[in-house]
Amino acid sequence: MSVARMPQVLDRRLALDLAQVSERCAVAAARLRGRGDEEAADLAAMRTCHREVNDIPLSGTIVIGEGVEGECDLLFAGETLGRGGMEVDLAVDALEGSTLCAKNMEGSITVIALAERGSLLKVPVAYMEKLAIGPGYPDGIVSLSQSPQDNVRALAEAKGVPPSDITALILDRPRHAPLIEAVRKTGAAVKLITDGDVAGIIHTTNPQESGVDIYLGLGGAAEGVLAAAALRCIGGQMQGRLVLDTEKKREQAKTLGIRDFSKIYALEEMVRGDCLVAATGVTDGALLKGVRFGREVIETDTIVLRAATGTVRRIATEHRDFRKFRLED
Ligand code: FBP
Repeated sequence: MSVARMPQVLDRRLALDLAQVSERCAVAAARLRGRGDEEAADLAAMRTCHREVNDIPLSGTIVIGEGVEGECDLLFAGETLGRGGMEVDLAVDALEGSTLCAKNMEGSITVIALAERGSLLKVPVAYMEKLAIGPGYPDGIVSLSQSPQDNVRALAEAKGVPPSDITALILDRPRHAPLIEAVRKTGAAVKLITDGDVAGIIHTTNPQESGVDIYLGLGGAAEGVLAAAALRCIGGQMQGRLVLDTEKKREQAKTLGIRDFSKIYALEEMVRGDCLVAATGVTDGALLKGVRFGREVIETDTIVLRAATGTVRRIATEHRDFRKFRLED
């Protein structure tokens, strides 16, 4: 087990509030599944998220949201939401994998995290180089400071298998061609996904089920912090390094207090304290089932994670009171 449990700060009952927000965002996005309009699906999920989080009895500040103030209207970093109460950090991706949703492909989810005030890493709108493995390995066997080949070999050794029995999950992007080649040279298998690296990273926590041992590659920095929150709860190791390749990104990073532009962040530096995470399937996927619409019932599939205890709850909900799901959702 790699992640040290931490004192409970967040009330366990907030987990249900969070699950409900996540469910409602997923339903809003799922109504627009397969319509070929990513923006509409994203917007529907974001509006729902904004409205529903505003109704939770807490005082939340968006740390990881949809962008920076002035460049996006809803769920921007720094926006405060909630009915009042305990002060917390919020990280939201109301629709993670909007293209997957628009094309009705597997793996789009809603994901939202609630964390102890001041405990989430603030990141600019940028890529993050990510590396993640599941629980049960000695600390530090993989690192962004070593090559992908060395990471695969070290992981194989720790697992007690040849590198050819290791599977690495990587986003299918031209920028990853050298990484994919390097991993394959070790004999390891590469599994490619078109989108959705939060779920991708969560897959490393259960290699028996997912067949994924390690996650590698560049994806959104915001998604990196959300994935870190999930791993903080379930266990596992993760590192992230921001890709600050333009002056604008470096300036934004500076305003967020980042001085070392090539710093490798450990999991515990991305999410420093207690947190709760909820994720609901929008489309079907290996992690979660998608929303099912029936005449009298809407079904959702959600996981809720708690860092303080490591509890993983699976919530299969049958919604019969459709008033909760407004028509504009
Ligand atoms: P969106 O839902 O915002 O489209 O993000 C999907 C996603 O695949 C993330 O999971 C991932 O971190 C990021 O996009 C990768 O970015 P890019 O598409 O630019 O490679």
